[in-house]
Amino acid sequence: MSINIPRGTQDILPGEVELWQLIEKKARDLCEKYQYQEIRTPIFEHTELFSRGVGDTTDIVQKEMYTFEDRGGRSLTLRPEGTASTVRAFVEKKMYGNANQPVKLYYMGPMFRYERPQSGRFRQFVQFGVEALGSHDPAIDAEVISLAMNLYKEMGLKKLKLIINSLGDKESRLAHRDALINHFKPRIGEFCKDCQSRLEKNPLRILDCKVDRDHELMKSAPSIIDYLNEESKAYFDKLQKYLTQLDIPFEVDPNLVRGLDYYNHTAFEIMSDAEGFGAITTLCGGGRYNGLAEEIGGPETPGIGFALSIERFIAALKAEGIELEVNPGIDCYLAALGEEAKDYTVGLLQKLRLAGISAERDYLARKIKAQFKAADRLNAKYVAVLGEEELNQNKINVKNMATGDQVEVDLDGFVEYIQGMER
Ligand code: HAM
Repeated sequence: MSINIPRGTQDILPGEVELWQLIEKKARDLCEKYQYQEIRTPIFEHTELFSRGVGDTTDIVQKEMYTFEDRGGRSLTLRPEGTASTVRAFVEKKMYGNANQPVKLYYMGPMFRYERPQSGRFRQFVQFGVEALGSHDPAIDAEVISLAMNLYKEMGLKKLKLIINSLGDKESRLAHRDALINHFKPRIGEFCKDCQSRLEKNPLRILDCKVDRDHELMKSAPSIIDYLNEESKAYFDKLQKYLTQLDIPFEVDPNLVRGLDYYNHTAFEIMSDAEGFGAITTLCGGGRYNGLAEEIGGPETPGIGFALSIERFIAALKAEGIELEVNPGIDCYLAALGEEAKDYTVGLLQKLRLAGISAERDYLARKIKAQFKAADRLNAKYVAVLGEEELNQNKINVKNMATGDQVEVDLDGFVEYIQGMER
């Protein structure tokens, strides 16, 4: 019996991977402009990091983690997201003591969630995320949002919708929490088991329930916006002012609560508005998490960030019909005729490559016509033909595939010749 790929995972093959690389490169370039530096953390962490950081009552922790015991009896979990790990590293490596503050970090790598696979929802997916730690300024919230928006825009996406909300500070959240409990308590029996246990532990999570989302009490639930204290309101107003200043259109949605527990103040999601995108339209999610560093055992540190998956990014590009030039082809294909010439191209190929030229030769003993076909498939800009006769005369025949022009050049000057040509 053959062994297949696990459910909810993907192989990304040549031909597809180039688009991934392009997005990854754009993301890195943009991070450099915005001055975010890369951090790489382990793929697995102590389970407690996520149960404390992401939150015990969240779907992620309750249902979606890949948790296992290692041979030493420790409970470890494949990371379901990148924020908790980043903040753990920030605390553990005492980055709050860095001279440069705020500390602005980004990461790119696989995350794991045991979710029901469907279009746009995988069990292993790649997140690109940024985290800015150490600043209370709403201008950095606006910066983080603008980084995500600009990445999408640079790749050509137009049908984007930014939704923002404020979850307020501790005081506002406590007031809202009481209001939620009062609202749901009398009829909590009509809700699912999860919601019933959420009522006292974390009633905000009820608003995020996928089972009971159409219950009438959901629509009439007290909105956090009405419970924001003056300080939280002022923070949210400032953010909106900055987004307007940055020309980033947004909608305020008081029902946006996000699926992770660490948020306060700013919460946001970027959705695709493209027709035919499918049921899951959230491309990117993020927000502020001022208490998280403390929760993990560090000093009080404000933080804000977002994460987006490359899988949904690509789905959005497809939904908008955006095709990017991702296979520009190789610079030079070396075609050879006869044993001696073939042998010679082994060294010549190396010289081309070491000179910074992308180059290929035949490894299947193909006839010259088939070698030209192979060069075509590789989209070669130049095909250099070396026969016994050329070799004896220390020459090589170079064909420009765009114009059809052919020239004979000295073998000794061949690499420099290709280097000097338009590539
Ligand atoms: P999240 O909303 O759980 O937030 O995930 C962020 C993004 O990851 C989603 O908007 C989506 O693009 C992608 N994503 C999540 N689950 C899947 C999946 N199963 N398949 C494909 N893509 C998926 C977080 O992870 C937070 N750590 C974001 C954050 C960073 N907040 C502050 N800083």
